[in-house]
Amino acid sequence: MCGIVAYIGAKDAYPILLKGLHRLEYRGYDSAGIALIDNAEIHVHKKAGKVKNLERFVNGSESGSTIGIGHTRWATHGLPNDLNAHPHLSANGSLVMIHNGIIENYGSLKQDLINRGYSFESDTDTEVFITFIEDIQKEGNHPLEDAFRIALTKVIGAYAVVIMSTKEPRKLVAARKGSPLVLGLGEGEFFLASDATPIVEYTNEVIYLKDEEILIINDDHYEIKNLDDVAQSPYIETLDIELETLEKGGYKHFMLKEIFEQPNSIRDCMRGRLNVDTGELVLGGIREYANALANAERIVIVACGTSWHAGLVAEYLFEDLCRIPVEVEYASEFRYRNPVINEGDIVIAISQSGETADTLAAIELAKNKGAIVLGVVNTVGSSIARNSYEGAYLHAGPEIGVASTKAFTAQLTVLTMIALRLAAKKGTITDTKYHELLVELDSIPDKVALALKLNDKIETISDLFKEAQNFLYLGRGYNFPVALEGALKLKEISYVHAEGYPAAEMKHGPIALIDEKMPVVVIATRDSSYDKVVSNIQEVKARKGVIIAIVTEGDELIPTMADFTIEIPATHDYLMPLLSVIPLQLMSYHMAIMRGCNVDQPRNLAKSVTVE
Ligand code: F6R
Repeated sequence: MCGIVAYIGAKDAYPILLKGLHRLEYRGYDSAGIALIDNAEIHVHKKAGKVKNLERFVNGSESGSTIGIGHTRWATHGLPNDLNAHPHLSANGSLVMIHNGIIENYGSLKQDLINRGYSFESDTDTEVFITFIEDIQKEGNHPLEDAFRIALTKVIGAYAVVIMSTKEPRKLVAARKGSPLVLGLGEGEFFLASDATPIVEYTNEVIYLKDEEILIINDDHYEIKNLDDVAQSPYIETLDIELETLEKGGYKHFMLKEIFEQPNSIRDCMRGRLNVDTGELVLGGIREYANALANAERIVIVACGTSWHAGLVAEYLFEDLCRIPVEVEYASEFRYRNPVINEGDIVIAISQSGETADTLAAIELAKNKGAIVLGVVNTVGSSIARNSYEGAYLHAGPEIGVASTKAFTAQLTVLTMIALRLAAKKGTITDTKYHELLVELDSIPDKVALALKLNDKIETISDLFKEAQNFLYLGRGYNFPVALEGALKLKEISYVHAEGYPAAEMKHGPIALIDEKMPVVVIATRDSSYDKVVSNIQEVKARKGVIIAIVTEGDELIPTMADFTIEIPATHDYLMPLLSVIPLQLMSYHMAIMRGCNVDQPRNLAKSVTVE
């Protein structure tokens, strides 16, 4: 939520900031803005809407400044208009700030500042924050970083902020708490951003700032301090991101590219971990706690959205293969109740971005209660990855489309590997079944590639349903979470109402919705629930519902009942979600395009949900 970028060095800052904002646009696209310092004067340009609006507005008028900050916004306080767009100036215009996060006590700070004669142009917490710093600076005659530090001890909430000052025009000060901030170390130049994507083409040496650390960049040197003004020794990491992975690579949209990348992303996820010949499954990130995991009396999975759906599949896998009771929790609910967590419980946090505020808060709560926290995360170096005790990265590569696709299948792959590893260690799986599943998992990338060949057929079916207002998605067993995921994909990018349901639950309510106008997508692959799902299809047909069935290739029965069938390759029940989700991802993509929606940047959403 909100992307921030900053530059200081010898190059022209504007094009670097602009490119950075394009890379970060997935984090929010309600407005975009930049501020540059030239001859000790601040120039601010900001516009509601996407980064390209800002670009049009600036219209080449900026060049020559070698220090600047930029912001792309996902609105929290105030409408997404020009006035509320970042950067925000302080009252006397000497300071300018970009901010990702929420200052929870901004109301009382604002009232106090108003009582003392300040006024505000925007509705944002950020304008209050920067004016508060100006006020501290003036009252105590403090240098900028001291005023900043004092302010940080008084604000409550989450922030990643960068500030520039006309009084010290070759200085950037920044800090983070709860929202991410990465420092890129170039040759005589520095880059700051919410993630490494705007940095990677200039340098691969980065420092991930920690919570409550303050960064001061003074022209060509930097220092990091804590809130007590004590210098910190930073840990410099080397980035491993290929620049091409951040581009569309010939596809019209990132979402389509990411759907089609899945044979490779699943392969990458298994690379070096799964060896069918030796039967080895190595998860290098889970070593110290491997025994604790095997001895756990209970596993709690915390996640949000699509990652939560992956967690539901994992519940079935862990219970079935490892005989460990599992609970899957929405992180946002878990963190605000008083969950029973016992010493030694394993909490697995699943997240693509690694920055989801609710998931982060859930793992902090779990750690405080004595749980062992493992992360299943895509973004290397992200907050959830760093705040977990151990874990396994997805290695799916950057996911830029707001709708999660390849991260979901990579999550399923990692969770399956963890479950198999664990089952082998606990002896809850026979050698034969273990080997069969390894072989089958290894074949999944090729089967996903076959499922992707259905693209044209799915486009044709999507065209027939593009005007439908409601959809029902049904599945049982391992395909139930896939029904939820299919419905979520359709809702979020096509703005069509869709509900996912366990097929058998339909008769307890949703069946009342079914008439000849209601398309019902049924995931009816050949698995242990097959016969039951066939009965559910008949129940829908008896009410004149229109069935789009996802079936296993060679199925002869369901095509006689369904209005449309989509055949996917056969696999084991445990692995079926990896294949059955593919047609649903494609269908939501095509429906969205046909309905004229922006699939990569759906309205009201953002990729990285760093607010609760
Ligand atoms: C849906 C989607 C969201 C995310 C959710 C969690 O396509 O992308 O529902 O799955 O916001 O995000 P992460 O996985 O980054 O924690």
